[in-house]
Amino acid sequence: MEYRNIILEKQGKLALITINRPKALNALNSETLKEIDSAIDDIGTDDSVLVVIITGAGKSFVAGADITEMKDLNSVEGRKFGILGNKVFRKLENLEKPVIAAVNGFALGGGCELSLACDIRIASSKAKFGQPEVGLGITPGFGGTQRLARTVGLGMAKELIYTAKMIKAEEALRIGLVNRVIEPEKLLEEAKNLANSIADNAPIAVRMCKAAINKGIQCGIDTAIAYESEVFGECFATEDQKEGMTAFVEKREKCFKNK
Ligand code: CAA
Repeated sequence: MEYRNIILEKQGKLALITINRPKALNALNSETLKEIDSAIDDIGTDDSVLVVIITGAGKSFVAGADITEMKDLNSVEGRKFGILGNKVFRKLENLEKPVIAAVNGFALGGGCELSLACDIRIASSKAKFGQPEVGLGITPGFGGTQRLARTVGLGMAKELIYTAKMIKAEEALRIGLVNRVIEPEKLLEEAKNLANSIADNAPIAVRMCKAAINKGIQCGIDTAIAYESEVFGECFATEDQKEGMTAFVEKREKCFKNK
């Protein structure tokens, strides 16, 4: 697929998706969502990519779903648009590779929701987060009513969503919405360092950790623990487990093969 609204770059073990509609502050229209969907498919089937970074071009990460496109939708069309966004973000959440949101600026509405579908969020000190939807007469529609509460807790999520207020990066850090705040010019470098430190580990084990955490958070502790035992056992059928433990015992550098 030819991309007009995003840039997909591959650098060694990393893939970088840049949402690239800076004139509209990277607002997500249907076309952009479909391009993100296609990029996820591409990355998902590319064994050379182990970790993904998502960022935005210009001063915004993503300033939300495209209000111009949504303005005249009827209820059926609105639902369809919401389903499209949710489908793409769920695919991202389920991608068998860690995804880091490098939030460089506005992460509002669908932008905050995009970051929430990623595994880890780091933010520039210039980033701003919020779910402004109720100020536009709608609810969050790309997962915000669900993932925000799972990330920052019910009370904080409800306050953010009901008030539609915007918060700065430092406040996002305080409430646990982001893992760290970085100087703007260092954001991408920091995201890449973080991505590479993940990519240095056994890819199958990392993938299984993601699946176990994401699955476990949705079910009771007994089911979750049983799932953990299952993936823990599966690791012992991998070459990388033998390599990781043999390298430790032999006191040498390990060399994982994603096998
Ligand atoms: N959709 C469409 N266009 C958008 C947009 C959006 N979400 N956000 C910004 N833009 C456009 C503006 O219309 C403007 O276009 P023009 O130059 O053609 O006028 C351009 O981007 C630059 O924006 P501003 O001039 O407004 O820039 P600013 O720096 O003064 O303000 C801002 C920045 C505070 C982020 C402001 O643009 C803003 O409030 N944007 C809307 C944020 C928002 O409400 N997002 C939620 C959308 S609803 C949603 O996301 C639903 C969901 O859950 C799926």
